[in-house]
Amino acid sequence: MNALDLDGKRVLIRADFNVPLADGKITSARRIEAALSTVRGAAEAGGRVMVLSHLGRPEEGRFDAAFSLAPVAAFLSRALGREVKLCAGYLDAPPQLDPGEVVLLENVRFNRGEKANDPQLARQYAALCDVFVMDAFATAHRAQASTHGVAQYAPAACAGPLLLAELEALSRALDTPKRPLVAIVGGAKVSGKLAALESLLQQVDQLIPGGGIANTFLNAAGHAVGKSLYEAGRVSAAGRMLRQAEARGRPIPLPDDVVVAPELSAEAPASVKTLDQIGAGDRILDIGPATVARYVRLIENAGSVVWNGPVGAFELPPFGTGTEALGRAIARSSAFSVVGGGDTVAAVERYGLAAHMSCITTGGGAFLAVLEGGKLPAVQVLEARAGGR
Ligand code: 3PG
Repeated sequence: MNALDLDGKRVLIRADFNVPLADGKITSARRIEAALSTVRGAAEAGGRVMVLSHLGRPEEGRFDAAFSLAPVAAFLSRALGREVKLCAGYLDAPPQLDPGEVVLLENVRFNRGEKANDPQLARQYAALCDVFVMDAFATAHRAQASTHGVAQYAPAACAGPLLLAELEALSRALDTPKRPLVAIVGGAKVSGKLAALESLLQQVDQLIPGGGIANTFLNAAGHAVGKSLYEAGRVSAAGRMLRQAEARGRPIPLPDDVVVAPELSAEAPASVKTLDQIGAGDRILDIGPATVARYVRLIENAGSVVWNGPVGAFELPPFGTGTEALGRAIARSSAFSVVGGGDTVAAVERYGLAAHMSCITTGGGAFLAVLEGGKLPAVQVLEARAGGR
């Protein structure tokens, strides 16, 4: 985007303002804040700026106030220090803007055909603009009318600075990493991250599973996990990965001590146990101090770190020690770090570490899609228009 002359042009920016809301209030504005410089830059360059986004997953074809971008328009107005109007009927009555003016177009998922990437809708979006700017890394794994189709039909289409920065950070960490490359993949379930785990196993020097995922690996390694969250149906896949990693000479590190409690509750009595002490009534809710020390050393030696998913139930204070310690180790280290996923970003923010990470990606599903080694369709279409790669 920054290489194009936007002066006087109608500029349509696809952002990802799919932010969490509670009672109509934005509870984390990180995604909007990340896109501000793109919007500001296009306006300062003299563009007539229209910003598009989705919010949530409303039913297409009808307006639903619960999914309106009105709170985002209010946030943008405050952040940019000027009124950013929310424009609803833009497909029938395109906004007429002055150079430097910014409007937000209402939730694209109210438009019939958005999710199916309907060419007619994509052409309607394209007709709004002279230049389409794809800046929504977090929605780049979706081939939808406002992310993919519009890029085929717009008079010009390009990547925005945020999309570019996130792609470059991920490429630096995964394609040309300073080694050793350490990946921490935590969270509840192996199933949602199986493809990412398998792909990362081929690329990284150390793959550290955390949370419920680690419990499934522990079970595959022959350890009883009591009442812990784990996936019986994924034990054989975890076992296969353990053997592959072993054969490659880079065994998957597993906890040797854990924090257990009878239930997931801040009041439940928590204790540190070694694996052979885990009883039938125990739930593993965090990694123990010896494991923390071992994992911190891996991070200290790393050249690059990719982190997706906490290693314990950090939302409850007794079980946040492991996640906090690993976060602090990443923050202290000189390794290039890419961190992403809702829970991981929440943890990094809770412990005040955000400013010390090299890149906090805005992507949830898109981050995972990259970790899985897949191509992002909304990026592929830009590459194809730019002459293909
Ligand atoms: C996300 O939050 O991961 C993106 O905004 C994509 O949202 P979606 O999963 O509803 O397409």
